Amino acid sequence: MPETDHRARHVAIIMDGNGRWAKKRHLPRVAGHRAGVEAVRKIVRAAGDLGLEALTLYAFSSENWKRPEEEVSDLMGLMKRFIVSDIDEFAANDVRLKIVGNWRALAPDVVALIEDALARTAGNKRTTLAVALNYGAQDEIVRAARAAAGEGAITAEAIEAHLDTADLPPLDLLIRTSGEVRLSNFLLWQAAYAELYFTDRLWPDFTPADLAAALDQFARRERRFGGL
Ligand code: FPP
Repeated sequence: MPETDHRARHVAIIMDGNGRWAKKRHLPRVAGHRAGVEAVRKIVRAAGDLGLEALTLYAFSSENWKRPEEEVSDLMGLMKRFIVSDIDEFAANDVRLKIVGNWRALAPDVVALIEDALARTAGNKRTTLAVALNYGAQDEIVRAARAAAGEGAITAEAIEAHLDTADLPPLDLLIRTSGEVRLSNFLLWQAAYAELYFTDRLWPDFTPADLAAALDQFARRERRFGGL
């Protein structure tokens, strides 16, 4: 039976278009990323109110290291500041922070900040904010397959149990902003049955109302999970 009119539990977003947002304003790219962090704050606040159990954001891919050194360092700086300055608000709003990807390979100061933030929000229950850092889906699947093989059985269930997102609800909706229509190595396994939603809105312009509109459309779509 097709399921209709249900609410999304887990939404993921490819936050694209910061650079173009800055260019349109004749600003440096870092200004676009700063505006992107502001959009993140608003969306995280809205996620709990919209009833989401999990929100996964693609903040830094394993391919983003190819960007100019200055931009990589700007992005890492913004990430660190975000983790430090927003932790109290997470705690107050019952938001649990989670990091997906190879974050332990990041600089030691970033790893230390993350460990502290994870410990401080571990008991929070309302919403999980999963930030993808140094993340690539193919790498995640390889790691999960290796772990499953180590336990003796490479089955879909065993691989799934070792994905970075194993403790989150199934992915319902994957959003990409800025008009690009591709997955860019994000949550490839989890997207198997997710609904996909593409919008021309550049990430810094994406608002809680845009998220609500995407969720509204999701609730109306019929999901068949391969059935009729
Ligand atoms: C894509 O825009 C965006 C990124 C590569 C980084 C996303 C990061 C943030 C929104 C800020 C930090 C995040 C958190 C969770 C604090 P782009 O630079 O590829 O834009 P363009 O395609 O227009 O050049």
